[in-house]
Amino acid sequence: MTAHPAHPPADLAAAVAAPPAHARGGVSQNPPGIGFLALLAEDRRTHDGKWLEQGFWAIAVHRFGNWRMGVRPRLLRLPFSVLYKFLNKWVEWTCGITLPYTVKLGRRVRIWHHGGMILHARSIGDDVHVRQNTTFGVARRDRLDELPTIEDRVDIGCGAVIVGAVTVGHDSLIGANAVVLDDVPPHSVAAGVPAKVVKMLDGVAHG
Ligand SMILES: CC(C)(COP(=O)(O)OP(=O)(O)OC[C@H]1O[C@@H](n2cnc3c(N)ncnc32)[C@H](O)[C@@H]1OP(=O)(O)O)[C@@H](O)C(=O)NCCC(=O)NCCS
Repeated sequence: MTAHPAHPPADLAAAVAAPPAHARGGVSQNPPGIGFLALLAEDRRTHDGKWLEQGFWAIAVHRFGNWRMGVRPRLLRLPFSVLYKFLNKWVEWTCGITLPYTVKLGRRVRIWHHGGMILHARSIGDDVHVRQNTTFGVARRDRLDELPTIEDRVDIGCGAVIVGAVTVGHDSLIGANAVVLDDVPPHSVAAGVPAKVVKMLDGVAHG
């Protein structure tokens, strides 16, 4: 990632223009074009049909947390919100997975295993794979709205830490225990602390 500064002007401008975290939860951000129950069925298929898999429960509660934002009038939403808050805490306590409903989550996201996962991203794309002990979040306490963007088909190794307003480009692999502080271009393999591009999946070698 030598050619990618920590906060390129374009990304910084996008981060500044983006709504703050609390405003992003005002409406349902479940993926368009698919109903709530069909989405849950698809998420279960993504988790090999295993109802008891912790990753499936974390995603199901996330979908529910977004679905209830579409309930009108707002007074009717109240019992669903109470239930969501309980379920969200239950997932944190029992599965060790924190996935706020304000994260824009794509389709067919697979959470492998469980434990030690804080998935506080701006967005997580379609067909992303996440594993145990992974952290997405802010890089500094005085930059609470600078969250990572994980594009489609990214595969993240266990223990990875991805922080700040960085973008992990689509079709990339992030190595186990990598600490990603800069943008990762699409189709790359990034590993190490701090993470660097160790190779491109299109065959172009990067030092
Ligand atoms: C990053 C990863 C996908 C790369 O796999 P790959 O494409 O086969 O890449 P290579 O093994 O050819 O490694 C390329 C280089 O990166 C290094 N590298 C690979 N993974 C690394 C890692 N996690 N941390 C630091 N360096 C790493 C290799 O040592 C190699 O360096 P070299 O060129 O100096 O010899 C893989 O190593 C990895 O970390 N996968 C995560 C798997 C995981 O989390 N499993 C848990 C399942 S529960």
